[in-house]
Amino acid sequence: MCGIVGYTGTQEAAPVLLDGLKKLEYRGYDSAGIAVMEGRSIAICKVKGRIANLCEKTKDGEALPGTTGIGHTRWATHGAPTEENAHPHLSNDGRFAVVHNGIIENYMSLRDELIRSGYRFESETDTEVIVHLIERYYKGNMRDALIKTSNRLQGSYALGVICSEEPGRIYAVREASPLILGIGVGENFFASDVTALVSHTRSVIYLEDGEFAEIDADSVRVFDGAGQEIRKKISRVLWDVRAAEKGGHEHFMLKEIMEQPGAVRATVAPRIRNGEVVFEELETLIPHLENVRKIVITACGSAYYAGCAGKYALERLCRIPVEVELASELRYSDPLIDEGTLVIVISQSGETADTIAALKECRSKGAKTLAIVNVVGSTVASLADWTVYTWAGPEIAVATTKGYTTQIAVLYMLAAYIAKHLGLLQNEAALTDTLQALPRRIQQAIDMNPSIPALARKYHASKALFFIGRNTDYAVALEGALKMKEISYLHSEAYAAGELKHGTIALIEEHQPVIALCCNASIMEKTLSNIVEVKSRGAEVLALTFRSNRQIVSVADDLLFIPPVDPLFSAVIEIVPLQLLAYHVARENGCDIDKPKNLAKSVTVE
Ligand code: G6P
Repeated sequence: MCGIVGYTGTQEAAPVLLDGLKKLEYRGYDSAGIAVMEGRSIAICKVKGRIANLCEKTKDGEALPGTTGIGHTRWATHGAPTEENAHPHLSNDGRFAVVHNGIIENYMSLRDELIRSGYRFESETDTEVIVHLIERYYKGNMRDALIKTSNRLQGSYALGVICSEEPGRIYAVREASPLILGIGVGENFFASDVTALVSHTRSVIYLEDGEFAEIDADSVRVFDGAGQEIRKKISRVLWDVRAAEKGGHEHFMLKEIMEQPGAVRATVAPRIRNGEVVFEELETLIPHLENVRKIVITACGSAYYAGCAGKYALERLCRIPVEVELASELRYSDPLIDEGTLVIVISQSGETADTIAALKECRSKGAKTLAIVNVVGSTVASLADWTVYTWAGPEIAVATTKGYTTQIAVLYMLAAYIAKHLGLLQNEAALTDTLQALPRRIQQAIDMNPSIPALARKYHASKALFFIGRNTDYAVALEGALKMKEISYLHSEAYAAGELKHGTIALIEEHQPVIALCCNASIMEKTLSNIVEVKSRGAEVLALTFRSNRQIVSVADDLLFIPPVDPLFSAVIEIVPLQLLAYHVARENGCDIDKPKNLAKSVTVE
């Protein structure tokens, strides 16, 4: 939920840290701070609010000279977003500064213990116990102090630490929160995410849980929890630095919506060869398929809705029952999962705390686990038996778009792949043609709807928006409503169209907008009846459908279109006009589209 960054080298550290924090701001943005070491003194600057405030307060970093430092951008958990609670936190003796992403679960007892020992607390955060523990355990050896401190901590943490006794050196510690080292020439870095590193270096080391690193300008050493040095592989980040920039778009979200044809192509193309679906990464899954009696999909947020959309293709093609469960519910539900269950875990970031916990719970019950993940080397990817990467590239806007569509594209291919290996797939060539056409169809869905900004002007001041649909349309309605509420703050809810009469219809009054998804021919007539029902009670209906669907076109007040596509595979197309509508409504309402209030992209707390 927070972002941390560290630098040591020959450049002035503060501007490098500020630049890194801007790239990580999507992870949290209610307060921020940096600590820079010059010789043996540590200077700290903290602000409430955005990184822009920190740039202003530090005069773009000039106010804090020095070539070694650490930085933090916060999404408050313990303590309000104030300057006192912002990181870095300093030890009472001023020799240590710490930045932290994660949650220290036993901080209350540690805090009491430290207060009893005479330590003075300046903030309400869980983090502050860490810096006091380091001070307490430091006897001239930082490695020792970090090991002793880590042994006292329960919870999740990625830490960045500096010590005034060790000029030019930064420490990075990882336990259940992402942390990546960037390896440069005469300079080295750490960060919560590669996006903060790629403008400096493509050579990275993914730290694993229990590991920590001692980082100097010209060397990086990694140790395990017992202090044994370990050799780590240096990986290359393949994507281009421009992928993490706005590329001329007003917002990352718009750029990422527009990138969807390319992102879905990058996800689908390598997995289709000569009319066949091929997953090299899943070859060892094939022998297990015979034993799969149930598939459970688990995830949070939009990834959960991607699961809801993918369920239809999996059940239809594989004839295996599929349950889709919120990870935050599944983890506490003592789920009926065993060796005969294939659990599919979906996560763009691969770091969502509830998703990780659900994955561990399912593994402990003997289930086989398959992860669909975007961020290479993330925790979910490293825990699952098999990982399929969505090659969406970096997603910066807090509200996911291309992350979601590429997840569904993988589920479609997975459905075809499993069905094929169970001997159930007919006409694979036609199906792969449909999958290969998805990027083109997404582009058409973008091009077919020039009226979206005007529709946004019409609907942006509504009190509430209702999204309705059935079957696959309902799954997309859920994500459409989520997108709208996340970024425009307009109250939006999705309902299964058939359920309207059981309550929601009571909310329909004169001019109430209803967004009706009608892209599934087999149940079109049914949704049409629901449209007529709400219209006769005064609703204004914005229908999302095909141009050729005359009945819907003639009855709706406003229209969004998608090109004709098999409903089993239409979710990735249908969502696109709804993403654009949410974007333009949010723009009309003057919202901070890429960083909506109270949200964070990577939810690393329960
Ligand atoms: C946050 C993001 C959502 C995302 C969800 C799950 O709420 O804002 O866009 O769908 O987390 O994240 P994950 O990284 O696990 O897909």
